[in-house]
This record gives sequence, structure tokens and C-alpha cells, in this order.
Amino acid sequence: MCGIVGYIGNRNAANILIEGLEKLEYRGYDSAGIAVINENGVEVKKHKGRLSVLKDSLGEKVLEGTIGIGHTRWATHGEPSDVNAHPHLNSNNAIAVVHNGIIENYIPLKEELIEKGYEFKSDTDTEVIPHLIDCYYNGNIIETVQKVVSMLEGSYALGIIDSNNPDMVIAVRKDSPLVVGIGEGENFIASDIPAILNHTRKVYLLENNDMAVLRADSVEIMKTDGTKVNREIFNVNWNVESAEKGGYDHFMIKEIHEQPKAIKDTISSRINRMGQIDIKDITLEKEYIRNINKIYMVSCGTAYHAGLVGKVLIEKYAKIPVIAEVASEFRYGNPFIDENTLMIVVSQSGETADTLAALRLAKERKAKVLAVTNVVGSSISRESDYPLYTWAGPEIAVASTKAYTAQLAALALIALDMAVKRGAVEDVSEIVNELKLLPEKVEEILKHLDEMKKMAEEVYKTEDIFFIGRGLDYYVAMEGSLKLKEISYIHSEAMAAGELKHGTLALIDKGTPVIALATQDKLYDKMLSNIKEVKARGAYVIGVAKESNREIEKIVDRVIYIPEVMDELSPVLAVVPLQILAYYVALNRGCDIDKPRNLAKSVTVE
Ligand code: G6P
Repeated sequence: MCGIVGYIGNRNAANILIEGLEKLEYRGYDSAGIAVINENGVEVKKHKGRLSVLKDSLGEKVLEGTIGIGHTRWATHGEPSDVNAHPHLNSNNAIAVVHNGIIENYIPLKEELIEKGYEFKSDTDTEVIPHLIDCYYNGNIIETVQKVVSMLEGSYALGIIDSNNPDMVIAVRKDSPLVVGIGEGENFIASDIPAILNHTRKVYLLENNDMAVLRADSVEIMKTDGTKVNREIFNVNWNVESAEKGGYDHFMIKEIHEQPKAIKDTISSRINRMGQIDIKDITLEKEYIRNINKIYMVSCGTAYHAGLVGKVLIEKYAKIPVIAEVASEFRYGNPFIDENTLMIVVSQSGETADTLAALRLAKERKAKVLAVTNVVGSSISRESDYPLYTWAGPEIAVASTKAYTAQLAALALIALDMAVKRGAVEDVSEIVNELKLLPEKVEEILKHLDEMKKMAEEVYKTEDIFFIGRGLDYYVAMEGSLKLKEISYIHSEAMAAGELKHGTLALIDKGTPVIALATQDKLYDKMLSNIKEVKARGAYVIGVAKESNREIEKIVDRVIYIPEVMDELSPVLAVVPLQILAYYVALNRGCDIDKPRNLAKSVTVE
């Protein structure tokens, strides 16, 4: 999830690009770069680090040129570094490309290009694009780009300039946002509207497989097969601050909506065409996997809740015992670690101090560490043996949402990969197929925000709330409860529903809100009994169940249905209404949703 900006007109492009990138820094900031066309051809400046590093390197010197593209990067393929920063170039520095998204088939494309003699400078997936354009160039840059994008699999928003065609910027969009800003005698591209809002409020919102050819005084939009299309001009009436949030009121609700993409990006390049798990980015040798005797799953906060779900999936499919612990306890405990122990750490930021300490402890004792993190180049990913990235993009709200569901998806992939390598299950095709359907099912849930908004209005004044569930639902209850308490400051507890009668039931009184998760088919009847227990004490119950399990309606006050899904993957769906409920409860209470009191996004101290 990086930021793109592009310009063509009569003004100095570099200044406009840098100013645009400043507005996009919240999207990713491990490196930044610009490319402009001037009398020297394509001139590029790019640097690892924040945009200020790039600005300092430009210094007082004006980079001439009235056409250019810029990028601020959130690394996916390849560590943050000068060479991995965008723009990327072909060998004779004529073609420059900036890219958001992931080219899933870049490895075979790269191999093919290397065979043809192309040399690669970076570890990125993006670099195949300028080389492909070079390789297939037929004298017409527009046709060539069309041919090249037809070869790409994955998601991409592209900005392309070519010094042989210095009168145009080409933009292409597939599954990664891109807009064209319309000016007078000048035009812009941007991955996010804030980048260009100082210059224009008139934009075309490109759709999938749209390609735009921008000249200083015209914008032509076509499909990538060359068919002309007309797109309506969209007038932006938001201010810059709300535009950064994509028109949403808070980053949290924006990030909740980004979950389908976060899940898709995390899984799609790791499931091959035959429907097999193929995690190319880490090499978990069969021999090694077969010899693992136990796994410690260690993490903090939301990442710990994801780890709990991971534990269940690994134990079920790969049949390896998993001990899940919070890192702050693990590091001072007496873990049994040997060289056949694998540690899996889960961390959005990759910088959490306790998680990092746990990782180091495991390494000292010769265990291998697999890290599920969202930040390429973070301490945890660097120090681990197997860094596996969730491709959720930068998460800004303190309360984690899209990172969590992406972690669940990544852990499911790991569980299935291990299961296959250990020969622990015959066939994983059913769950792999279900995994692929998760993004659209989450999308479906997001269509029902109003229902959750109404429920939030009914419960927001409460001072105590309980979340109950069994099996995987219990772990989702823990995450739902954490979401609610961290942003609304309501006292909230999650209970294994079967444990209620051992104490917590004493707290249930007339009107006490209880969120009851009943998405596990095997445990559905048991859950209905637990719901009856709290109802009998006067609780106000909001149930969460699968669409087909409608009996719950008869005993609860409100119910939220999630699409049909196999039990093992239901946490990915069941958590979404809980995130939304927490959001609207906090909104009703007037809380500072994105920056809750006393909390930090990344806890780098013990
Ligand atoms: C903080 C954040 C949580 C997060 C936890 C672990 O408490 O506020 O949202 O779950 O740290 O962070 P990590 O970056 O390791 O996932």
C-alpha cells in the first residue's frame, strides 16, 4: 500500500510530486522517489527512509521537467532500500514506472527477462514492468503497455513515463486505487485524492482494467484492451483531512473496509493456479516441518488473538501441538525450547518489544522463528528465519482491524502448508477454496453497517459488556471485547461460554449486554443453552450466527448473520461485525477512535 502521484503540464513537476507525496506519507514511508523527464532524459531521485530524506537530497537544486511520477513506498517485495525504492527503470533509463499492489507472477516473468539478457537491480516485483515494456516495445508505447499489462497477474496501479514519448503519462489500474485529476493545461494521477487536492477537485475515478493517457491538455481513458470508455467527472467535496481517510470519518472504519483487499493480497499470490498452497516467499523445508515437535505461538494484544486462532488451525490440520502465549509472559516463563521447536511470532508492527524479546530467547535456544508481520524490514521480520508478510498495508488506527484478519489468513496458509508437507491431511482443497472466498464474504458483511449502527445505539450507554463464545468463537470474543474496550472505554470481558457458570454469571443482571457468538456448527446447540442461561438473568443479547442457523432468533434480542463459511474460517467473518459495533459504540460515546487514550500503535518498550 504505497502512494502514487503523477503530473504533466507546464509547471515544475518535481515540486508538485513532492508536495503530493507529502500528502500520501501516511500510506507508507519506508522510501520515496520521483522521476521526471527533462533534457537529460529520465532523471530519478529515490531514497530509503522518509520523504524528508528525498527532499534533503534534492536540496536547493531544482530538478527541471514538467512531467513526472512519484512514489512513497510501503515495502512488500524487497527490503526498504534505495534500489528497491520506486520509480523503477528499464536498462537504458528511458522508461520509469511507479507501482502500487503486487505482481503475483513476477518470478516467472523475471526469469524470462533474465534469460533474454535483462539485468535486475532491485528485489521488487515492480521492476519487471519497465523491462517488459522495453522488451515488447513496438514503437507505440500505449499498445506496448496494453500488451505488458495483459501479461501481469495480481493487483496494480501504475504510473508510467517514457522519455521517447515525453508528452504523456500513462496510468493503469487493476485492484489498486488510482484517480486522474483534471486541471487546466495540466493533469495529474494519484493513488489517493489528497495528493492532488490542492490543484484540482475534478477527478476521474479509474475502474479496474482502465488505462488513462494523460497529456497536458487532454485525458483519454480506455480499457486495457484498447476499447475507449467514458468516465464521469467526480467532484470532490471533502477536505484534505477527510480525503486522507478516503472520505471516511476515521482511519479505523476505513481500515475495516480495506479488509477484503488485505485478505486477498495476503492469500492470492500464495495459492497457485492448481489451488495448492505455494508460499514462495519463505522456504519451509518439508524435512524441517516434519521434525517439528511443538510450536510456541507468541504475540501481544490483537496479534495474540490471531495466534490463538492459528493454534487451532495448526493443531487441526498440521497436527503439531501449539502453545499460544502472550509475549510478556512467555519471555519470563520456562518454555521448553529445543532445535525441533518452531516459534511463530505474530506482530503487525514487527517492533513490539516483548515479542522481539521472545523471538531472541527462542533463537538463543536454537529454535527457528517464523514471523507473521505487516512491516517489511521491521526488527522482527529481519531477525526471524522465516518472515511471512501480511499484505494489509499501513494500519494507522491504534485499534487493529485489517492487520488482524490478514494475520488470520496468513496463519491459515501456514497451517495448511504444514499440513500438506507433513502429510497430515489428505486434501485441503475445500478450505483453500473457502479461503479464496473470504474477501467477498467480508464485503457482504460490510453492506450491513446500518444494522450494527442501530445495535450500537442500543448498548453504548452501558458500563459493562460481555462477549461469550465457544471454541474459535471464544477467541473471536476476546478480540471483539478488546476492540470495544480499547476504543469505547467500556469495561468488557470475554468468556468461554461454558465457564460462565463458574463465576461471571453472577455479574449478569437485567439489561446487561452480552454479545454471543454462535458460528461454530459443532457447538451451536451448546451455545444456545449458554445464551438461555444469560437470558434467564435478564441479559440483553446480541447473537452472531451463520445465515443458515436461524433458530437463534427465537432466543436473542438482536442477531447479526454472517455468510456461510466453514467453522475453521469463521473468525475472519465473525470479527467484522464486532469491529463495526465497537466503532459505532465509541462514536456514540464521542471517543477519540483512532487514538484511544493511554494506548499506542506500536509498543516498543517493555
Ligand atoms: C499495541 C496495539 C495493538 C496491537 C499490539 C501488538 O497494543 O495497540 O493494536 O495488537 O500492540 O502489536 P503488534 O504490532 O506486535 O501486532
